[in-house]
Amino acid sequence: MLKVVFLGHATFILETGTYRLIIDPFVRENPACPLKFEEVPKLTHVLITHGHGDHLGDAVEFAKRDGAMVICNFEISVYLTRKGVEKVHAMHIGGRYKFDFGNVKMVPALHGSGILENGEILYGGNPCGFLIEVDGKKVYHAGDTGLSIEMKLLEDEEVDLALLPIGGNYVMDVNDAVKAVELIKPKLVVPMHYGTWPVISARADKFKDYVEEKGFHCSIIKPGDSIEL
Ligand code: NI
Ligand code: MN
Repeated sequence: MLKVVFLGHATFILETGTYRLIIDPFVRENPACPLKFEEVPKLTHVLITHGHGDHLGDAVEFAKRDGAMVICNFEISVYLTRKGVEKVHAMHIGGRYKFDFGNVKMVPALHGSGILENGEILYGGNPCGFLIEVDGKKVYHAGDTGLSIEMKLLEDEEVDLALLPIGGNYVMDVNDAVKAVELIKPKLVVPMHYGTWPVISARADKFKDYVEEKGFHCSIIKPGDSIEL
C-alpha cells in the first residue's frame, strides 16, 4: 500500500513500509503546511523538482537531519553538496534510474530553476517533474510547469496518480491543467500549487468538476490529509 500525504503547496510525502520520500520539501516557510519541521517523520529520500525556494525548501535541513538521499538535477546536486549534504543522486531530463525503493524518471517541466541566495540567482539547471514507481504504483509529480505537449508521452506510462499544479501565474491554470489530464490520462489526479498565496488562487472544485466531465477521477486533498493507492 502506498500512502500519499499532502503537506500543502507542492509538498507531498510518499510512504511505503520501508521508505518515506518527500517531494519538494517546503515546510518551514510554507503557509499551507500543517506540520512543523520537527513533526515531519524521518525521511529516506528527498526529491527536488527545481531550485525555487518553495520547492527546494528545507531540503538541506531534512537531508542532514535524517541522512536522507536527495534526488535532483546535476546543478542542484552540486549546490547541495557545497551545503554539506552527503547523499545526493544527480539525474537529468529523460533519465530513469532504479533506486532501492523503485524507479524514478526525470521528465521535462516548462519553468525556471534559479536558486535565490543572498539576493543573487544561482544557476539551478533545468526544472523537472518526476515519474516515481513505488510499491507497484506510478506517481507523476509535475513540479512547476506550464502545459506542454511533452505530457502526451506520459500516456504510455499508465500513470496511477498525477499531481498537477493548477494555480496559474507561474504554472498551469485550471483550464490548462484539465488539458494536461487529457494528455496524460492518469487513473487519478490531485491538484496542487494553488491557494498558498493570493497570486495563485484557483478553484480546485471547478478543476475537479471539469476533470470528471472528461471522464477522469480527481481527489482534492486538504493539507495534512492523505490518500492510499
Ligand atoms: Ni517554481
Ligand atoms: Mn512554485
